[in-house]
Amino acid sequence: MTTLATRKKLSETARNLFVDLAIAAGFLIALQPHFTGMTIHEWLGISLGGAFLLHILLHWRWLYATTSRFFKKLARQSRINFILNLALLIDFTIITLSGILISEEVLPLLGLEGSHDMVWKSLHTTSADLAIWIVGLHIALHWKWVLSAARKYLFGWLPRRKRASVAQTSSAA
Ligand code: HEM
Ligand code: HEM
Repeated sequence: MTTLATRKKLSETARNLFVDLAIAAGFLIALQPHFTGMTIHEWLGISLGGAFLLHILLHWRWLYATTSRFFKKLARQSRINFILNLALLIDFTIITLSGILISEEVLPLLGLEGSHDMVWKSLHTTSADLAIWIVGLHIALHWKWVLSAARKYLFGWLPRRKRASVAQTSSAA
């Protein structure tokens, strides 16, 4: 029998899983501006900024606990995660800010002109390329969590639905 606390924890896991999947998909699409076109790329990039903020806020308890213990006693894994998360934060801030600076679609809507400076453009592309590696590591370090949450909420979900529809069909017959 599941207690209220266990159920709350489970739904927190499901919520985190869906946010994680959404930002992973958004990130992969944002890496292909030539495929989506610049308008979608820029709005998607800005929305991702908001989604990352949500992702961080959903882990504020972890962030608070780890930050306050960083220079004291802290497990090696948490220390590595912290440093990697900091690198992610810095890298995605650079991607978003440089993206807004070179914007060809969003800034003109506000009556402003984006910079044509190659330095900002190459900073944007290089930080996006770097993000692929850091995000890859970030996901790898949480791989066990991803697998068990996906097994529970994605793959476990299908047979249950299938079972329900089978039960419905048989009761209607
Ligand atoms: C495409 C981008 C990203 C993906 C796919 C991703 C995915 C994940 C996953 C799977 C987890 C573990 C499960 C969970 O508790 O949700 C996690 C945790 C976390 N992520 Fe991300 N993340 C991304 C970007 C970021 C960024 C930009 C930050 C900024 C600092 C960040 C900070 C964190 C934090 C603080 C945690 C919880 C602490 C930890 O265990 O490391 N993530 N992320
Ligand atoms: C997670 C967020 C983002 C990622 C991963 C990302 C990724 C990329 C990549 C990989 C390119 C280079 C494509 C190429 O090789 O030609 C690019 C170009 C570009 N991005 Fe982003 N971007 C993001 C956010 C943004 C935002 C928020 C804006 C503006 C509001 C923006 C504006 C642009 C522009 C204008 C270019 C064209 C640069 C050029 O002419 O060389 N991006 N982006």
